[in-house]
Amino acid sequence: MIQGVIFDLDGVLTDTAVYHYQSWKQIASSFNFELTEKHNEQLKGVSRSESLDHILSWAGIALDPEMKNRLLVEKNGLYLDLIQSLSSRDILPGVTDFLHHLIGQGVKTAVGSSSKNANFILSKIGLMPFFDVVVDGTMVKQTKPDPEVFLLAAASLGLNPESCLVVEDAEAGVEAAKSAGMKVLGISAHGNLIGADHEVQNLIGVDTKYLLSHLN
Ligand code: BG6
Ligand code: MG
Repeated sequence: MIQGVIFDLDGVLTDTAVYHYQSWKQIASSFNFELTEKHNEQLKGVSRSESLDHILSWAGIALDPEMKNRLLVEKNGLYLDLIQSLSSRDILPGVTDFLHHLIGQGVKTAVGSSSKNANFILSKIGLMPFFDVVVDGTMVKQTKPDPEVFLLAAASLGLNPESCLVVEDAEAGVEAAKSAGMKVLGISAHGNLIGADHEVQNLIGVDTKYLLSHLN
């Protein structure tokens, strides 16, 4: 039986992808590279430094570690400016009811995110009280698609990986959850998330009782 649900943050609880995109686009334009939405899709779930590595390789640019670090700091500054105004209005549809139902059924809840800004974002949108555990990008050595973030979340909840369900919107995250031996509920507007055990367009009206027993 599923006893714990581990949520990805960006794209599952709130949609910050557009802000990551805007700030990366500005960074990329500083070296005359035009970052497109298609590129951005490939950055979902990927850590900040690996995202920069992808962008530099698409642009065919090699930078020394110091310069890369400056760009990472600059990108995060731009991103933080953009997410200052996040509030509970930015919680994605269906999320709050879904969490209430799970908690009412005695299921433990965690966040497993690649973001180093996860605690800040959760506080801004007011979802912090809904989670027993938050594991973010500051707490792991390897990021998705490595399973470390989800394994640490399960261990912190005191659960075996097999009794956890991960809710994810990115391929790197689905891969991470499957490598951890967990079930995956995929969130995908277009129904094309490879590898998820079950897929929905959003969390509106998702029947938690059915889901937890069905994905056993
Ligand atoms: C993930 C996002 O949740 O966090 C990625 O999907 C992002 O796009 C990554 O790069 C790291 O985020 P941050 O906040 O540490 O720059
Ligand atoms: Mg995500």
